[in-house]
Amino acid sequence: EIAHRHGARVVVDNTFATPIVQRPLALGADVVVHSTTKYINGHGTVIGGAVVTNDTVLMEEGIGSLIKFTGGVPSAFDCWLTNLGLKTLPLRMRQHVTNAMSVAGFLHTHPAVTATHYPGLTSHPGHEIAARQMDGFGAMLAFDLGSYEAAVRFLDHVRLCTLAVSLGNIDTLVEHPASMTHRVVDPQDRVAAGITDGLVRMSVGLEAAEDILADVAQALDR
Ligand SMILES: Cc1ncc(COP(=O)(O)O)c(C=O)c1O
Repeated sequence: EIAHRHGARVVVDNTFATPIVQRPLALGADVVVHSTTKYINGHGTVIGGAVVTNDTVLMEEGIGSLIKFTGGVPSAFDCWLTNLGLKTLPLRMRQHVTNAMSVAGFLHTHPAVTATHYPGLTSHPGHEIAARQMDGFGAMLAFDLGSYEAAVRFLDHVRLCTLAVSLGNIDTLVEHPASMTHRVVDPQDRVAAGITDGLVRMSVGLEAAEDILADVAQALDR
């Protein structure tokens, strides 16, 4: 409402949530973007993206011509793989969300974890708004192990979870933002954004929840 009052458009990156969990156009957004590389394909087999809007003029004259002139067009094979993934998206998201809830609950009470960030936890500052506008809380979470060394030790010892910077895959992926995705960010800016040295990001996959929990537990005990 604030943006529209000032004549601005609202663009939402819905990659983490997917349309199964959250539908921003229905909530008043003008444009939704997705990295289809993530949950929509779901199997880590393509790199792609999607722009969705119900503003036909913006799509045809703005976004459509930009795509045409810059040539950002996926191959037929990548479209086929993405479409294959799309067919199981509702089923996958249901299990991703259930597994993430179990993992977040486990981490939240573990003595080696100083903070767990997941909107499904009532302690999360965004919990109420997420509960209002999302059908489930997604499967991306982060937790703090208190120090750079503790985070690295954890990541060195996971066996089922895979150390990788992507997300939204059928497999559980873990990464260390301070040394990987956000390494290029100024350390002070990182801390201001809540990206501490001990933070570990997890994209909870579709393995049996007890297997993920067992792997996380043994790596935390090292
Ligand atoms: C939330 C989000 N949006 C967009 C992107 C960009 O994705 P891609 O590399 O597939 O263009 C990423 C990549 O990590 C992401 O995490």
